Amino acid sequence: MLKILFIYSIFLYYIVHRISCECVPNNNVAKTETFQLVYEWKFVNFTWLSHEEYEQSVSNGNYVPGNIVMLGVKYYKDKFYLAMPRIKKGSPVTLAYVPKVPEDGNYLNPLLTPYPDWMTHTSNDCEKTLQNLQSMEIDNDGIMWIIDGRRIDKTDHKCPPKIVLLDLNNRGQMVQSYVVPDEVCSHENCFLNDLVLDDADGGYAYITDASFTDPGLIIYSRKQNRAWKVRDDTMFAEEAARNFTAHGILQPGRNNINGIALQQKSKKGGNRLLYYTAQSALAMYSIDTELLLNESLAKTELLHKSIVNVGNKIAQSAGMIVDSAGQLYYGIMTEDAVYRWDTEKPLSTQELIEKNPELMPWPDSYSFDKSGYLYLLASNVDRFAAGKLTRNDYNFKLLKLFTGTCSYLY
Ligand SMILES: *[C@@H]1O[C@H](CO)[C@@H](O)[C@H](O)[C@H]1NC(C)=O
Ligand SMILES: *[C@@H]1O[C@H](CO)[C@@H](O)[C@H](O)[C@H]1NC(C)=O
Ligand SMILES: *[C@@H]1O[C@H](CO)[C@@H](O)[C@H](O)[C@H]1NC(C)=O
Repeated sequence: MLKILFIYSIFLYYIVHRISCECVPNNNVAKTETFQLVYEWKFVNFTWLSHEEYEQSVSNGNYVPGNIVMLGVKYYKDKFYLAMPRIKKGSPVTLAYVPKVPEDGNYLNPLLTPYPDWMTHTSNDCEKTLQNLQSMEIDNDGIMWIIDGRRIDKTDHKCPPKIVLLDLNNRGQMVQSYVVPDEVCSHENCFLNDLVLDDADGGYAYITDASFTDPGLIIYSRKQNRAWKVRDDTMFAEEAARNFTAHGILQPGRNNINGIALQQKSKKGGNRLLYYTAQSALAMYSIDTELLLNESLAKTELLHKSIVNVGNKIAQSAGMIVDSAGQLYYGIMTEDAVYRWDTEKPLSTQELIEKNPELMPWPDSYSFDKSGYLYLLASNVDRFAAGKLTRNDYNFKLLKLFTGTCSYLY
């Protein structure tokens, strides 16, 4: 009897553990070779508190649909969280969500619900508000790590850049907040672009700081509530890769370190490698995270010596992600294509998954669920930047690809 109870409790533990925190790809789904549409939007609209609120926001210019862009996506427990950097005036919310399955069954133009609530986006209190973010990441405990650190836009940023942790399992309650010091990221020109999480020693975030004058890699320790930055020439745009064309629109400028990806947790032997690349560049680099985590060592010449050029991408790119099997996925902006690279092999073995300018314009932000799907947020951000967004087109697309894997967090 005791033995049966014992076996039963082990069985129960196993089931509960699997359901709550493990990656369980659905083996019944066939791998797809191409991306499928989940949601698409012409313009962004919200679940307003009241119709009066909506009408007032339209008339006073707080809500200008054509001035809102979605650039970051992360999936957690049946919701897609979306980051909307406030690049132009008239963007009332910087973080919101849509349910995985729409209540009304309509996958076109779903309304976004501000997260955690409206107040967080309208408050004048720097400690409570979210101001301008482009990306976030969610750890295995359901804590969302937000880099509220876009300060390059000439909109309305009164508050210094911050790193904010919200508990998604407790109505988005703020569990930690950190003001990024001016010497780590200039309060006038900070541009925290993207991040990955490492659960070593209480948790770290590695963040790309795409600032135009002082780009670098920022390491934030949750336990110490402290950050430091390392700088290297490899984090700047490449002069020869400055100008590229997407959708017939020239993308000039020096866009520095941008895409970041961390080797999967299950990687055996040695420390995890961090991959990074500038947007206006071809070279991809890797660095051992062990060095980055030792601040004093990382600020010596050992940093430059430890950075490895792993090869050239097909062309200019932005966001990227590694899955639990060590495959790195990234988008190529000049082709509107997504490529896959098995990080155990040379980068030259990278393969095209799909090229589709209609379906995946500017394929930029990635996220995995726990049942084997990769999600991609693509948008007409290049047209948005050029002031050429039109109401007739579906400008934002959320896509999925069944890979049968989970994210690098596993
Ligand atoms: C935006 O959404 C509100 C409902 O929250 C709706 O009343 C309004 O008509 C929508 N506006 C547009 C332009 O679709
Ligand atoms: C990039 O474009 C700028 C002007 O748009 C031009 O001055 C510069 O020479 C170009 N650089 C390269 C490497 O093509
Ligand atoms: C950083 O590395 C140095 C040299 O190996 C070592 O003495 C020091 O203890 C390390 N610091 C931390 C915080 O691990």
